[in-house]
Amino acid sequence: MRALVTGGAGFIGSHLSELLLREGWEVAVIDDLSTGREENLPPGVGFYRLDLVDRDGVTRAVQDLRPEVVFHQAAQASVVHSWEDPARDAQVNLVGLLNLLEASLAARVRAFVFASSGGVLYGDAETIPTPETAAKVPLSPYGVAKLAGEHYLYTFQQARGLPYIALRYGNVYGPRQDPQGEAGVVAIFGRAMLAGEVPTIYGDGRQTRDFVYVEDVARANLLAAQALLSGFRGQELDEAAFNVGTGVETSVLTIFRELARLTGFSGEPRFAAARPGEVRRSALDGARAAQVLGFTPAVSLGEGLARTVDWLRSAA
Ligand SMILES: NC(=O)c1ccc[n+]([C@@H]2O[C@H](COP(=O)([O-])OP(=O)(O)OC[C@H]3O[C@@H](n4cnc5c(N)ncnc54)[C@H](O)[C@@H]3O)[C@@H](O)[C@H]2O)c1
Repeated sequence: MRALVTGGAGFIGSHLSELLLREGWEVAVIDDLSTGREENLPPGVGFYRLDLVDRDGVTRAVQDLRPEVVFHQAAQASVVHSWEDPARDAQVNLVGLLNLLEASLAARVRAFVFASSGGVLYGDAETIPTPETAAKVPLSPYGVAKLAGEHYLYTFQQARGLPYIALRYGNVYGPRQDPQGEAGVVAIFGRAMLAGEVPTIYGDGRQTRDFVYVEDVARANLLAAQALLSGFRGQELDEAAFNVGTGVETSVLTIFRELARLTGFSGEPRFAAARPGEVRRSALDGARAAQVLGFTPAVSLGEGLARTVDWLRSAA
């Protein structure tokens, strides 16, 4: 099988590329290295350094590669930047997506897997763990673009026959997550603790998230592609979307304590004012991913955090 992984030099995309190579796939990556790094690319992948907004470049690369499956991980993935420059966010996350969709149709791609976000689509949901059918209330340009992206995909599937699945990730963590990034509380706290610095918790630390290990997320992508290649088609927006999480709420304080134990950090956190608009509780209901895709997370939080700290130590 031939795969194109966009964002393959990034955190999740590089793990996915590794998994696909191990499974015997041919893998090529499109990435502009805006947040990704060339050294994240596993040996054996083809690499196109390209901005997805460059329509001709994307068309040429996809024609050249003729992938059977596209895993679209590349994104302007920062909520903060999406407020600083909403137009650039839409350029990358919507125009870039459309460039890739057109090129995929022309190259007769058989399956398209899209990295969406459960964390930003559901907001403060009524039901926790939250099912795919919950109301969508994105609270940032980034969230709006993820939801609009799913709508584009659905329309392209129904009207033009491009089969897709959207995976709505929880809070993904693991090796190679950039501690400079905003989404990675595990990477940020872990790096700070190893450097003997006191991490800052925004709010009281009792806000919860659904932390899912990056290798599990990579496997969910592979399972989604296999489902599409076996004929799965979601007949509604929420049927073509699958939560990828553990269903477990973990507080930021719990993450702090676990990481403190693993790193030998003995200090207390510094507390700062909660960030406006921050969701209080979040956990994703993974029942449909289990039933339809056969996906259940395999790496426990304790194991995943230990592996992440090992990596942070070696990278320091
Ligand atoms: N990390 C999380 O917790 C999380 C949660 C929900 C959804 N997601 C989504 O998962 C995907 C991967 O996120 P990640 O955490 O690995 O982030 P990341 O920043 O490590 O990876 C994104 C990659 O896309 C590349 N990229 C960005 N803009 C590009 C452009 N215009 N053209 C080509 N390449 C471009 C970057 O260089 C980077 O390598 C994103 O779509 C993100 O929105 C991540």
